[in-house]
Amino acid sequence: MSKDGSKETLTVTDNRTGKAYELPITNGTIRAMDLRQIKVEENEFGMMSYDPAFTNTASTKSKITYIDGANGVLRYRGYTIADLAENASFLEVSYLLANGELPNRSNLDEFVHNITYHTLVHENIRQFIDAFRYDAHPMGILTSTVAALSTFYPDAKHVSDPETRRLQMYRLIAKMPTLAAYAYRHRRGLPYVYPDNDLSYAGNFMSMLFKMTEVKYRPSPVIEKALDTLFILHADHEQNCSANAMRSVGSSQVDPYSATAAACAALYGPLHGGANEAVVRMLHEIGSVAKIPEYLEKVKRGEVRLMGFGHRVYKNYDPRAKVIKKLAYQVFDEVGKNPLIDMAVELERIALEDDYFGSRRLYPNVDFYSGIIYQALGLPVDMFPVLFAIGRTPGWIAQWEELLTDEEQRIARPRQIYLGYDERKYVPIMQRG
Ligand code: CMC
Repeated sequence: MSKDGSKETLTVTDNRTGKAYELPITNGTIRAMDLRQIKVEENEFGMMSYDPAFTNTASTKSKITYIDGANGVLRYRGYTIADLAENASFLEVSYLLANGELPNRSNLDEFVHNITYHTLVHENIRQFIDAFRYDAHPMGILTSTVAALSTFYPDAKHVSDPETRRLQMYRLIAKMPTLAAYAYRHRRGLPYVYPDNDLSYAGNFMSMLFKMTEVKYRPSPVIEKALDTLFILHADHEQNCSANAMRSVGSSQVDPYSATAAACAALYGPLHGGANEAVVRMLHEIGSVAKIPEYLEKVKRGEVRLMGFGHRVYKNYDPRAKVIKKLAYQVFDEVGKNPLIDMAVELERIALEDDYFGSRRLYPNVDFYSGIIYQALGLPVDMFPVLFAIGRTPGWIAQWEELLTDEEQRIARPRQIYLGYDERKYVPIMQRG
């Protein structure tokens, strides 16, 4: 019963038989398995729901991330993204995602120590990366080398052991920046830089990316903080395509390196982690502020999409985009302005005043400004999804941990509606037309 005394059930009448079924409602949902009892003949399989792309199917209960798309709200474990971006560090947020609570000082020190302790990768990984072509996409290198880590840590397959899971979490969060930086250096033909554990998580990543001949790389505190904040903004986004890949593959109880490789592969796709790159390309294509109205007319005629605008879940300003826009100016004060920012700001202003975008509730998303910052840092566009992957790793692991400790979860195995041939006989090749 609900508070007002109404029944928390849904009555479904099958008009084929006239039979009514009362299905319990819990947390505003019915269980798809409760539909199975609905059948015409006793020996039938029973009713299923059909939901390609899971647009209206909850695949899990979760306590990690909350999104209210209509109102532009994103919270990790109850804390708003703006609050965390303003006040926390990325490793603090990683701890929060993994443990459900913010760490106290000693928890955080221990966590940071455990991550820092694992930043090196086995020397064989370097040879492995060397074997890629000189122009290999860094996301392809990252995906393959993360998968390869499972061969270095065979203990990782004991996924039912909480201590083993924790150790792999430290290793994954620690090693992703190392693999990412190695992928970048390989591409540029530069020597690999070992991790510097005196530096912060973001500072060490910058050192592995940008260190040249200096004895010690000293990151700019502004850029270090900006990168750390960008990682926070990407840390989790509930059941998106890559988190779903992590969970689906992880549900077979494979080791977390293999599952993370699957998540990276999902993120690699242009509809997921690749949009920030598309925004930069689009701004170059537009060319100047004066040409924005002309470009927007093309968008409105349906010839092109306005990249970095619109979202499946957010029907309001993406709260991450707000933080990133502010961050962009802090970065530009340090490294010089990326001229694309003026065009982006003007594009946003004109689009938001236009009824086409207003009526469809299309607002800037996380990708609208992030690529402009990455570009200002001197990173090539194909590194953008790699940065996304580093930030998203604690989210993937938290989703994986939640999956493995959820007693209701089993191997992910959707059903299908078979519309193919009925049984038919093999025809020898000479008799085929
Ligand atoms: N530019 C122009 N029109 C758009 C856009 C856009 N970016 N996005 C949606 N629309 C229109 C679309 O044409 C449709 O109009 P109509 O009703 O007249 O046919 C209406 O808005 C609804 O669009 P939809 O395709 O049903 O929306 P969706 O939820 O399936 O798509 C989206 C979401 C993100 C794929 C889409 O908005 C898009 O392609 N955006 C550009 C790419 C982009 O920025 N992607 C990054 C997403 S955020 C990163 C992440 O979380 O991975």
